Amino acid sequence: MILKSLKWICSGVLGLAVAAVLLAYVLSDNVCDQPIAIEGAHIKAVIQCEYGPPETLTIADAAKPIPDDDQVLVKVRAAAVNPAEWHLVRGKPYLVRAVMGLRKPKETRLGTDYAGVIEAIGKNVTQFKPGDEVFGGRAGAFAEYIVARADRAIVSKPANVSFEQAAGVPIAAITALQGLRDKGQIRAGQAVLINGASGGVGTYAVQIAKALGAEVTGVTSARNMELVRSIGADHVIDYTQENFTTGTRRYDLILDCVGNHGLLDLRVRSSPAAGWC
Ligand SMILES: NC(=O)c1ccc[n+]([C@@H]2O[C@H](COP(=O)([O-])OP(=O)(O)OC[C@H]3O[C@@H](n4cnc5c(N)ncnc54)[C@H](OP(=O)(O)O)[C@@H]3O)[C@@H](O)[C@H]2O)c1
Repeated sequence: MILKSLKWICSGVLGLAVAAVLLAYVLSDNVCDQPIAIEGAHIKAVIQCEYGPPETLTIADAAKPIPDDDQVLVKVRAAAVNPAEWHLVRGKPYLVRAVMGLRKPKETRLGTDYAGVIEAIGKNVTQFKPGDEVFGGRAGAFAEYIVARADRAIVSKPANVSFEQAAGVPIAAITALQGLRDKGQIRAGQAVLINGASGGVGTYAVQIAKALGAEVTGVTSARNMELVRSIGADHVIDYTQENFTTGTRRYDLILDCVGNHGLLDLRVRSSPAAGWC
């Protein structure tokens, strides 16, 4: 009797869950479905109305944003593309859609990393002034203008760094720094392995680990071995020739920016720390 009731309850809950997901799927839409009347000045922005190949993206008119009291208005001079955009545009892996919108992306503006020039500031902003060159991370960065809080994820751009170089820093470099310093607790003298050492995150990770005094091994393909050496790696492994998880060498810390090895395999090669980007 109890078993029968439990069965009924379970199938009821399952039915409700399936109905809720279906309803959320049908109701999931975005501003592309609504007619938009843009008031005031126009800017161009990259718009994503559907999940799909990059060809589904369009460049469309949007309203020029107006900074509130705590924000700055930035004229974007360069923006960087990260794997995050690749996942968001395609809506894959499908788990992405659970967060970003089941049928269509809820957020239609794309991009995060940018560098540019401050054009206007809110009345509470004291850190920046119009004309300052800055870089940072802000949702919707693939646009001519963005607004960003002056105290959040925005800093001055050094004069000897180009806009393009600065725009390539935020996500990749912060991921490398957080992985090695904050999570990995890297220390001078440690043996550190970076898997995916020639990529966006990996190239920062090699340089940061080296700057913090580690003995660095970079894993990459043959065509990028020289690049990885040139940015400071002490040892370079060509992953087409050698699998670092089956060798005898152990590391104090492994940062895996590829994700092609299980955490258990990484842990066997490193004590005490290993993690994915
Ligand atoms: N958690 C976060 O906040 C966060 C932030 C940024 C990135 N990520 C993730 O970190 C990963 C890397 O990002 P990224 O921007 O560095 O990507 P990326 O620029 O595409 O770099 C990936 C690198 O992996 C290398 N690679 C490919 N197959 C490999 C293999 N079997 N063994 C070793 N290396 C291999 C490639 O080198 P070759 O060209 O030499 O093959 C490439 O340089 C992505 O999965 C991304 O989603 C996470």
